[in-house]
Amino acid sequence: MTDIVRGSEDISCVSAATNAVSTGAVSVANGANNTTSLLPQEKSLVKLTHIQKSYGNVCVLQSISLHINAGEVVAIIGPSGSGKSTLLRCATLLETFQSGTLAYGDLVVAKNDAHGHAIYAPKSVLKEAKSRFGLVFQSFNLFPHCSVLHNVTDAAIRVQKRNRDEVMTQAHALLAKMGLSGKEKMVPCELSGGQQQRVAIARALALNPSILFFDEPTSALDPELTRDVLKVIRDLAAENMTMAIVTHEMSFARDVADRIIFMEAGVIVEQGTASELINNPQHMRTKTFLSHYA
Ligand SMILES: Nc1ncnc2c1ncn2[C@@H]1O[C@H](COP(=O)(O)OP(=O)(O)OP(=O)(O)O)[C@@H](O)[C@H]1O
Ligand SMILES: [Mg+2]
Repeated sequence: MTDIVRGSEDISCVSAATNAVSTGAVSVANGANNTTSLLPQEKSLVKLTHIQKSYGNVCVLQSISLHINAGEVVAIIGPSGSGKSTLLRCATLLETFQSGTLAYGDLVVAKNDAHGHAIYAPKSVLKEAKSRFGLVFQSFNLFPHCSVLHNVTDAAIRVQKRNRDEVMTQAHALLAKMGLSGKEKMVPCELSGGQQQRVAIARALALNPSILFFDEPTSALDPELTRDVLKVIRDLAAENMTMAIVTHEMSFARDVADRIIFMEAGVIVEQGTASELINNPQHMRTKTFLSHYA
């Protein structure tokens, strides 16, 4: 790669991961990696491999590997501070990591140099990668002074430079699908939290992403509004949309996810199908975490 950008230097994560070998934490993570490596690699839409990320001296991700295949729905669960959002932020280029590789299909976004430091691809590659995913946040992140329609269409017209009429037609269809027909001219503060979140999902879908990432999409919502948003995500799953969803909604994760990943302290402790992980967790830390939801 040329015009390289190096992930911010920090060796604390390397030493933390090395230390973790003796505690068994990395061997658990490697066990998880072995599981993902059994999946057909050529179908992976996104591959994060041996990602290490630290903030100063604090190692937040320790050699995390996560490959997500086309059509797969992956739920990521784990206690507060375990690194779930950081993993999503690294995958979606909102954060850089110090070591590891990230690829969207055949597009290599970052890979290690000979010293094990992550080197990011040129801006043009990062831009192309960004067009392959959508991200839905807990806090909606809509433009407050812009209409619903503007929120949904802006990036597709301005960033992707797509045909305006085509984007408008798509936006109306997406808003109808989200149960928001008739709300096109409203601004976000005139909508409920659940409606705002559905606008945010429509906005993400308007970019025609290969994969959607959600970071706790319902945690700011009351139970009734949560139900509406979860229904939209279930419908997307039924249409084979590839999704990675950080969630604390265990019953939703069990229902919708093909695979559930349990993270703690920056490692993937355990992963499996919903019935494997939720009904028959193998690791004591997973059992303890799930006991809070019993
Ligand atoms: N910008 C930052 N600067 C310094 N430390 C950070 C930053 N962002 C996250 N962290 C730390 O990284 C760790 C993981 O945070 P992260 O937000 O990824 O956890 P999480 O699993 O998403 O937690 P939650 O379930 O509460 O959202 C925490 O210890 C957090 O304090
Ligand atoms: Mg989080």
